[in-house]
Amino acid sequence: RRDLLMLGIETSCDDTAAAVVRGDGEILSQVVSSQADLLVKYGGVAPKMAEEAHSLAIDQVVQKALDDAHVSESDLSAVAVTVGPGLSLCLRVGVHKARTIAKAFGLPIVGVHHMEAHALVSRLVNKGLDFPFLALLISGGHNLLILAHNLGDYVQLGTTVDDAIGEAYDKSARWLGLDIRKGGGPALEELALEGDPNAIKFRVPMRQHKDCNFSYAGLKTQVRLAIESRNLRCTDGIPISSATAEDRQLRADIAASFQRVAVLHLEERCQRAVEWALKMKPSINNFVVSGGVASNQYVRTRLNYIAEKNGLQLVSPPPSLCTDNGVMIAWTGIEHFVAGRFDDPPAADEPDDMQ
Ligand code: KG4
Ligand code: ZN
Repeated sequence: RRDLLMLGIETSCDDTAAAVVRGDGEILSQVVSSQADLLVKYGGVAPKMAEEAHSLAIDQVVQKALDDAHVSESDLSAVAVTVGPGLSLCLRVGVHKARTIAKAFGLPIVGVHHMEAHALVSRLVNKGLDFPFLALLISGGHNLLILAHNLGDYVQLGTTVDDAIGEAYDKSARWLGLDIRKGGGPALEELALEGDPNAIKFRVPMRQHKDCNFSYAGLKTQVRLAIESRNLRCTDGIPISSATAEDRQLRADIAASFQRVAVLHLEERCQRAVEWALKMKPSINNFVVSGGVASNQYVRTRLNYIAEKNGLQLVSPPPSLCTDNGVMIAWTGIEHFVAGRFDDPPAADEPDDMQ
């Protein structure tokens, strides 16, 4: 396995990422090019703009990943690429690149599911992490609780009925007028440190539903109303430098109160999921938390408490592997490749943009 070399390509959302990972899990390179400027300008991911940005970046990002790893295409064992879920215009850029390389160098291709990759990268980080395990995957577009029985064998315990938690962080940060160039989530987390998490009594979502699903649309609306009812300026994306200390404190209180309830919702659903999972599989020892929002320190601390309370080990990748990256795609490619799940190299007469 040590001789195996996998290139991973990720273009499902707003980051163009590539990495080279060795079969034993050693990360030889990791390159991410983000579209932060576009996000600030357009208030979210505009598919056509994102596609263009990916197209502009992809060749350089992949080349840098190969150069940093000191390998060339002909050294690779296979190419792994995200095939979904995500914006199809964006996914196509990555798939096209992967197929072009695979065709030119006769390499197998592994199509990777983005959310599976968020979950499985935890097995690269923690080599002793065996199946089965429970995983909470929290990102901009998804909130998933899954019981991972085995590679490719997952049972969904819960999902979001509307928005994902990352979306609620991003929108709240915009409405609070934060500088979101480094992302709405990190900006809100930072401001929340200055606030009183009990200042505003937001309602915890879905308490009457005794299941493991999530809902963040209502909490988002509560944040918006909290901003408007306090006569705070709500500029939607243009950073505000607070005129007064009082203004800043109010915004920080809203941020901290939002974060407390957003994460309390996670805690409550995770506690129930742990109970369900342990009933189904008493042998579970690990609770994986991954996806962009898992890079949040408050989230990690609170979920670590849930894990400990239930006798489980929390496994959460370092922040650079929680947010979208090429390493998780390469690693998931390795897992499937070793299990014999891959496609043969495209034939010379096949088009490059098939999915
Ligand atoms: O997994 P990811 O990089 O991309 C998707 O698959 O969506 O997750 C991105 C999401 C964004 O909503 C971003 O604001 C959020 O993760 N995020 C955070 C933090 N860092 C990233 N949310 C809260 N706190 C953070 N520190
Ligand atoms: Zn993601």
